[in-house]
Amino acid sequence: MSEVALASDAALDPRESPWAVETHGLTKRFGENVAVNDVELLVPRGCAFGYLGPNGAGKTTLIRVLLGLPQADAGTMSLLGFPVPRYRDRALARVGAIVDEPRFHGHLTGRQNLLILAAAREPVARGRIDSALERVGMAQRANERVSKYSMGMRQRLGVAACLIGDPQLLILDEPMNGLDPAGMHEMRDMIQSLVAEGRTVVLSSHLLDEVERTCDAVAIVDRGRVIRQGPISQLLAGASIALEIDCAEPSRADQLLGRLTIDPVVEVGEQGLTIALPAGTLRDVVAEINRVLVEGNVPVYRLQEVQVSLESWFLQVTSRLGVDE
Ligand SMILES: Nc1ncnc2c1ncn2[C@@H]1O[C@H](COP(=O)(O)OP(=O)(O)O)[C@@H](O)[C@H]1O
Ligand SMILES: [Mg+2]
Repeated sequence: MSEVALASDAALDPRESPWAVETHGLTKRFGENVAVNDVELLVPRGCAFGYLGPNGAGKTTLIRVLLGLPQADAGTMSLLGFPVPRYRDRALARVGAIVDEPRFHGHLTGRQNLLILAAAREPVARGRIDSALERVGMAQRANERVSKYSMGMRQRLGVAACLIGDPQLLILDEPMNGLDPAGMHEMRDMIQSLVAEGRTVVLSSHLLDEVERTCDAVAIVDRGRVIRQGPISQLLAGASIALEIDCAEPSRADQLLGRLTIDPVVEVGEQGLTIALPAGTLRDVVAEINRVLVEGNVPVYRLQEVQVSLESWFLQVTSRLGVDE
């Protein structure tokens, strides 16, 4: 895309867009199968963003479509404020991505692989190899053959390969896959340090727990559709609250709750009850529950509101997480 063509597009100033990734109505079909279904995605700049969903939900396909491999069937998108595919080359010059698994030449060393990749980029890329290797903790192992690398080392070399392009946006497809707990920890720290430098990291994952620990914001995807998205704290604020009650005679306690002015979802356990209350429930309701139990002569030993995790919230939204297609 020439400068002239860009200058003539008066509406385009990529710096004005607050979004690192913006899609509207993005759709990709494989025959009858709609792998990416009318996706509206807004990824703010400068955050770690999780694209979270079960296997087969369409995460890899979305990433591939963002990179232009393959083209979308419908919808619009832009990366770092550049509409693509129109300004694809300009956009991708600022994007580093690992799709599926990082692929390298196994018989060559980590450094040799990066040299090959740098040769395909602008001349300064070569000069970034050492710092990129240092950055991902691979400087000591850079002269070993990639075929000897563990999965974690390959993932880290993959991130180093992204960094030689000094990307503003990194897109990582399941970066935690195949990593042991220590490897996941390192990957999480690395992602957060990239964000601390002002870069945006979009990662796909089916690992809820990891997304909750690593990301600031999340989109939840199921069967190609984004069901919810936003900052994790905001999404959780809209989730229901769990009230745990330890009490005598849980079944009778459950019956007593029929006298409440509201009709909550109650789970009866051996030690007591767990009650799901809608977000924003007034504390008066908690007091009313306690009063109804005590007036019904059910001793209450403990009563506690529990913060919902992303996991239990997710299960409220969809019950299919982790179920392979
Ligand atoms: N190249 C392809 N041809 C046909 N179907 C595909 C292709 N790639 C993915 N799919 C289908 O699209 C759906 C989403 O797949 P994918 O994007 O790989 O999901 P995820 O990465 O979330 O596990 C699946 O039903 C998968 O079988
Ligand atoms: Mg995938």
